Amino acid sequence: MSQLNSKHLLGIKGLSRAELELIFQTADNFKDVINRPIKKVPSLRDVTIANVFFENSTRTRLSFELAEKRLSADVINFSSSSSSVKKGESLLDTVNNILAMKVDMIVMRHSSPGAPHFLAKHIDANIINAGDGTHEHPTQALLDTFSIYKKYGSLDGKKIVIVGDILHSRVALSNIFALQKLGAEVKVCGPITLIPRYISDLGVSVELDIKKALEWCDVANVLRIQLERQQIKYFPSLREYSLYYGINKVLLDSIGKEITIMHPGPINRGVELTSDVADSDHSIILDQVENGVAVRMAVLYLLAGRQNEN
Ligand code: CP
Repeated sequence: MSQLNSKHLLGIKGLSRAELELIFQTADNFKDVINRPIKKVPSLRDVTIANVFFENSTRTRLSFELAEKRLSADVINFSSSSSSVKKGESLLDTVNNILAMKVDMIVMRHSSPGAPHFLAKHIDANIINAGDGTHEHPTQALLDTFSIYKKYGSLDGKKIVIVGDILHSRVALSNIFALQKLGAEVKVCGPITLIPRYISDLGVSVELDIKKALEWCDVANVLRIQLERQQIKYFPSLREYSLYYGINKVLLDSIGKEITIMHPGPINRGVELTSDVADSDHSIILDQVENGVAVRMAVLYLLAGRQNEN
């Protein structure tokens, strides 16, 4: 396989294992590029990309912008908080105005699940989903699974536990799809109130005891508690959450085996992870961030090869 099946990246659900492996191979090449003294290639010269963010972001927005610049694309950035969206402009009008400036690709984060799918039906440019509400965050799952692949050489048979706020997490859903397509076994662990009822329909098992979950896994991908999406109280307090589900060094030392700790960021230090775990040799959190640039370069490069298609 030498190209992706779609001109958009809307989610992991629609990708095949072969497409995930193509993205990994391409990201491997770009990882070499970004570790060279000259980190730039001309692959996307004359391609214009708009990063359209209707929700806050540090990692994803900066990582896309850097990936685009490393590929020599022209880049513009849009943030809804300082835009005419505040004056009542619709999503479609906003994006059509950006496209009228001869933009070829749109990277979009939006709080509404399905917003990038809606856009893909109405505009010609390539759309990359940079996170749509509680639905999917495909490039986060790609960089997470690529980071596991770089550490272990393969995901086949690997045991991955996703810990924490599964209910509100687009990272969890995209990770579940990607991990399973790549042959990994997936469990989730967290308070029962933060585990969706449909989770077993996805072929994912549930472990409520964090120590048992850590004893089972090779990798723990620990998620942020998304207080901004929680309209009701799902657990009594952050202190109690960290007591039952926070990962600290004493807990890690007690499981009698080495596991890898991941977190998509931003971390609530002292809630999901203590600093002595987040900053330890077990953690590959900053490798995830580095790999994010290479993975996003791969996605942009592969989708640019499908430009001008309907
Ligand atoms: N992991 C992630 O999506 O981080 P940001 O919200 O900072 O982009």
